[in-house]
Amino acid sequence: MLIINARLVNEGKIIERDLRIKNTRIEAIGDGLTPKPGEPVIDARGKLLMPGVIDDQVHMREPGLTHKGDLQSETTAAAAGGLTTVFEMPNTKPATLTRELLEAKYARAAQVCAVNYAFYFGASNDNLEDIKALDPKAAAGVKVFMGASTGNMLVDNEQILEGIFAHAPCLIATHCEYQAAMDAALIAARAQFGGNIPVSQHPIIRSREACIKSTEIAIALARRHNARLHVLHITTAEELALFQPGVSKGKRITAETCVHYLHFDDRDYERLGNFIKCNPAIKAKTDREALIAALHDGRIDVLATDHAPHTLEEKSGDYERAPGGLPLVQYALPCVLQRVTEGALSYPMVVDKFCHTPAQLFDIAERGYLREGYFADLVLVDPKANRLVRRSDVLSKCGWSPFEGETFSHAVAGTWVNGQHVYDGASVKPGVFGQRIVFAR
Ligand code: DOR
Repeated sequence: MLIINARLVNEGKIIERDLRIKNTRIEAIGDGLTPKPGEPVIDARGKLLMPGVIDDQVHMREPGLTHKGDLQSETTAAAAGGLTTVFEMPNTKPATLTRELLEAKYARAAQVCAVNYAFYFGASNDNLEDIKALDPKAAAGVKVFMGASTGNMLVDNEQILEGIFAHAPCLIATHCEYQAAMDAALIAARAQFGGNIPVSQHPIIRSREACIKSTEIAIALARRHNARLHVLHITTAEELALFQPGVSKGKRITAETCVHYLHFDDRDYERLGNFIKCNPAIKAKTDREALIAALHDGRIDVLATDHAPHTLEEKSGDYERAPGGLPLVQYALPCVLQRVTEGALSYPMVVDKFCHTPAQLFDIAERGYLREGYFADLVLVDPKANRLVRRSDVLSKCGWSPFEGETFSHAVAGTWVNGQHVYDGASVKPGVFGQRIVFAR
C-alpha cells in the first residue's frame, strides 16, 4: 500500500512525504513515490501520518474481570484510537504474579489482540523470588502498586520493596500513593460526611501529599539500589520537582503522565462525578498546567492512557463503592491533540512522548518511529474532523466515555498494525492480530 501526500510527524519534524508499506514493514519514505501496478493508494493530503501510539499503561481486564472489558474488545477500541502497541497491567483476576500466568496472557493475546501487546509482571508481598527469576525480555516491566487500587495489589512490606528494587531484572513501574495517608484521610472524610462522601473529596482523600510521599520513597529506593524506575501517572506539580529535565535516553528514573490529567481538573468532578474518579485522583488546574510544562522540559518522559474500564453500573454507585478508572484508549490521541489545537503542545512533542520515548525507554525493537525497515505501525490523523464523541461510537465493552458530548478537532482516519490496515476511519477490520513485542534488552 502507498500513502501519498501525508504530513509525516516524526523525530521532531513535520514534512510532506509518501510512505510505502510492504508486508509488515515500512519499505520506503520519499518524495514522489509512484504507485506500482495494482498497488492500493491512499491520498492523505491534509492529514498527519504518525507512528502508532505505544501505550505503556492499560488495563484490559482479562482474565477474570471480563464483564468490564477483555483483550479483544479493548484492543479493538485501541486500534480505532490509533494505538498500535499496549502494555497491559497485572491487576487481573488472578493477578499476573507467576511466569505461568504471564505466559497464559501472551497465549490468549496471540489469538485475540487487534494491536501489538506486552504484559507487566505483578509484584506482591509474596513473590520476590518469582521477580528475581523473571526473564527481562518476557515482560514490559515489574509493576509495583505502592498504593492500593483496583485489584488490591498493594506491596507494603518494606523489606520486600527493598528486595524488588535491589533485584528486579528489568524496569520497575510504580503506582505511587502512600496508603497510610489515604486511609487516614478516608476515615476523616467518613467522619465529616457520613456514608455520603461527595466525589469532589477524591483528590483530598487520595491526596497530593500521598502522591508526593510515595514518589519520594520510590525514588529513594531506586537511588539506593541504582534500579531502573518508571513512575506511572504523575498528577501533582510538587512531584515534578523530583524528576530530571532533559532527554529521556539514559535516565535511570523516568516519569509518565496520562491524557486525562492533561484534560480534566478538579472543577470537573461536579459535572462528571465518579466517571472521572481514578487513582491517582485528578487534581487542580495548576497541576494540569505544571504537567504540560514538564512535558516541555522533559521532567515527564512519557504519555499514556491508564485505560481502566469499569461498567456504567459500577460507576453509578456512591463515591466509596465506585471503582477508580476511565476507559480511554479510543479517544486518547484526539484528546491529547486537542492540547495542540489549544497551543499547549506541538505535534512533534505528542509523537515524542506517545511513540518515540516509550519505544526507547522500554527497548522496543523496530517500532515507535517512521523509519524505512521498521514495522509499519502507523496512525493517520485528520486534523480538521471536529468530531463529537458519542456513546454510540464507543467500542470498549463498558460502553461509555468520559469525553461524551465533547468535540475534538482531530480524529483517527486510519491505523496500521504491522502493515495491516486494521482501522479505516469507520470500522475495525476483524481478523487482524497484533504481535508480541520483542524487547531488545
Ligand atoms: O484509576 C485507576 N484504575 N488506577 C489504577 O491504578 C488502577 C485502575 C484500574 O485497574 O481500575
